Amino acid sequence: MDRVVIVGCGDIGRRVGRLACVQGAEVVALARSEDKAGLLENEGFHAWVGDLNDPSMLPDLPVAQSTVFYLAPPPGGGFEDPRVRHFCKVYSEKPPRRLVYLGTSGVYGDCGERAVAEEDPVSPATSRARRRLDAEQCLCVWGEERGVDVMRVRVANIYGPGRLPVAHLEAGHPLLREDQSPATSRVHSDDLARALWTVAAAGRGGQVFNVGDTEPCSMTRFFKAVAQLAGIPVPEEIDIERAREVMKPLLLNYFIESRILNSDKIVNELGFEWQYPTLREGLPASI
Ligand SMILES: NC(=O)c1ccc[n+]([C@@H]2O[C@H](COP(=O)([O-])OP(=O)(O)OC[C@H]3O[C@@H](n4cnc5c(N)ncnc54)[C@H](OP(=O)(O)O)[C@@H]3O)[C@@H](O)[C@H]2O)c1
Repeated sequence: MDRVVIVGCGDIGRRVGRLACVQGAEVVALARSEDKAGLLENEGFHAWVGDLNDPSMLPDLPVAQSTVFYLAPPPGGGFEDPRVRHFCKVYSEKPPRRLVYLGTSGVYGDCGERAVAEEDPVSPATSRARRRLDAEQCLCVWGEERGVDVMRVRVANIYGPGRLPVAHLEAGHPLLREDQSPATSRVHSDDLARALWTVAAAGRGGQVFNVGDTEPCSMTRFFKAVAQLAGIPVPEEIDIERAREVMKPLLLNYFIESRILNSDKIVNELGFEWQYPTLREGLPASI
């Protein structure tokens, strides 16, 4: 990978970019503002200012023959991802060699506490998940038409430095009772960046890879583990009826959603190795 283009260069994008720099690749990143561009330049990336919301605001990024990591989320509302469409439209004439799209396990829909593998059918249950599936499908069609190898990565929850629920815990907000909070998969941000890099280097066009660590556990267990490690008193646990009264719906959803990913494929087919296979390794590296 001589040149890597990162579209949506936030937390995960910067981690991927650093890996690329270590490998000696040139890193080009799309930034939404001059300030953000400055931060990315400090990382050693070439930052281009532009906005996926408006195709006329997208710069002439050097995507031709490059490896693109598309990591920007869809905007809120509707069932489509206009940002992906704008990207496809603007860079159609000089397509990259490969593109890795980071999406979510939400496209599988509600699978109870059953582990889902890549060949399981998609059945998005929320508009957010439908927008993600739309993005995947747009990129796949575009890639097939233009000879771009498009690989998709699906993750459930990302944690890592700067993305722990410390503020929630310090505020003493309650947690859902642990026995009512089902297990879900998560991945450390550095492992996710390494997984994306592995998929770009060794994956084949059309492939999908789940990325979730080896020990799914409930959100309540996760919050308690963070509290214990950070030396914050563990908040009280409340049952689901009380939680419906006092928790914001989005937060409650976070506690009751179960998405267990079978991630054997990336390990068995691409030789991916976890640096943080469980929270026992990952949390101390995140505090
Ligand atoms: N949180 C989770 O547990 C989770 C789970 C599954 C998937 N994901 C997805 O994984 C991806 C990477 O995550 P992350 O933590 O790295 O997210 P992040 O830090 O929020 O990075 C996303 C990047 O996309 C950029 N972006 C957003 N709208 C844009 C636009 N209109 N034009 C150009 N750039 C735009 C943002 O720019 P600004 O910096 O200017 O805002 C930001 O740099 C995201 O798509 C996220 O939704 C997250």
